[in-house]
Amino acid sequence: MSYFANIKELPPDPLFGLKARYNADSRPNKVDLGIGAYRDNNGKPWILPAVRQAEKKLQESPNYDHEYLGITGYAPFVQNAAKVILGADSPALANGNVVSQQTLSGTGALHVAGVFLYRNLTSGPGSKRLYLSKPTWANHHQIFTDIGFQVDSYPYWKEDKTLDFDGFVDTIKTAPRGSIFVLHACAHNPTGLDPTKEQWQVLLTAIFDNGHVPLFDSAYQGFASGSLDQDAYSIRYAVANQRAEPIVICQSFAKNAGMYGERVGCVHVISKDTKITKAIATQLNKIVRSEVSSAPAYGSKVVATILTDPQLYEQWKQDLVTMSSRIHSMRVKLRDSLKALGTPGNWDHIVNQVGMFSFTGLSAEQVARLEKNHAVYLVSSGRASIAGLNDGNVERVAQAIDEVVRHVKTKL
Ligand code: LMR
Repeated sequence: MSYFANIKELPPDPLFGLKARYNADSRPNKVDLGIGAYRDNNGKPWILPAVRQAEKKLQESPNYDHEYLGITGYAPFVQNAAKVILGADSPALANGNVVSQQTLSGTGALHVAGVFLYRNLTSGPGSKRLYLSKPTWANHHQIFTDIGFQVDSYPYWKEDKTLDFDGFVDTIKTAPRGSIFVLHACAHNPTGLDPTKEQWQVLLTAIFDNGHVPLFDSAYQGFASGSLDQDAYSIRYAVANQRAEPIVICQSFAKNAGMYGERVGCVHVISKDTKITKAIATQLNKIVRSEVSSAPAYGSKVVATILTDPQLYEQWKQDLVTMSSRIHSMRVKLRDSLKALGTPGNWDHIVNQVGMFSFTGLSAEQVARLEKNHAVYLVSSGRASIAGLNDGNVERVAQAIDEVVRHVKTKL
């Protein structure tokens, strides 16, 4: 008799499964618009100049070693990461309201935050209810469902490719008091559509009015506008207007420092009540100690080297502009090529969306044909990682999209 009589084989992860199919494809002109990872204009992974210089400086330092980090993480990294997201002059930092814990990148931060809130939140009837945008990053669902939350969604994306602002606000107002709202801090994944500043103010005020807990996922700071400060607007507005509810921030340096595989991230829990910050820190420590003991050291030391050296910090900001402006120029080229081809539909949304992705409006059937007939890979939802485009492939991708749109007619 099997000891695993009920075990089920699960389908491949939508994003990593796509990557595996792309890797196995031997067609020389294949194009990867799947996983959100920056590529340079030659289609190659890009080690940021700031990172290269920081690695050299770090490795030449007399204190360089591979010892364990403490459970909270590498202090120069954790403390400066909080300044990156909250602002160096943040009153919440000065007042000791912020508890920061190093994590395994953004996914680890989301998981630690989820476990922490599930165990400790006593915010009201909604304390085990968590709301995700519809649509959202696929991994959000399984991270929070696996922890035990009742996962619901708030409307976000309308057929006409605009924000469902009214639906979003209505859900905030009708959710049980004390629910958790997972918010994409900027560069919404997958839609590339962010609320305006005025909309953020209304949304966050409604969240606080209803006693809910905002949980920010900040994976793309610097990718929406090219500016770290501008892309932190939603978070800094929330923190400046915080009431009794905690604010949780999950911060990844995977994309904005190009440290994908090094798993560099933090969770920050902000509490108005400084009497409980020690308790929060110890609870976060316990989760990390029992799950991974301590976070990986190398990537956090590289990022800390950047954050503590003014010249490297400037270089990093420049690198962010390099990445975000190349992506923007590819948005324009793709849109212009589709227009020039007379491809049915309006493609302006490709330029208007921000961050790494475009929610193209292509149907699952059209995406499947792109992969099969044209070796162009994107997620079945129609999300395309614009960072995978370059001067050498953008025209061909436009021609491929043109062909599938004419062949498989659906609403765009
Ligand atoms: C993505 O959405 O493509 C990235 O966040 C990579 C990932 O881990 O899914």
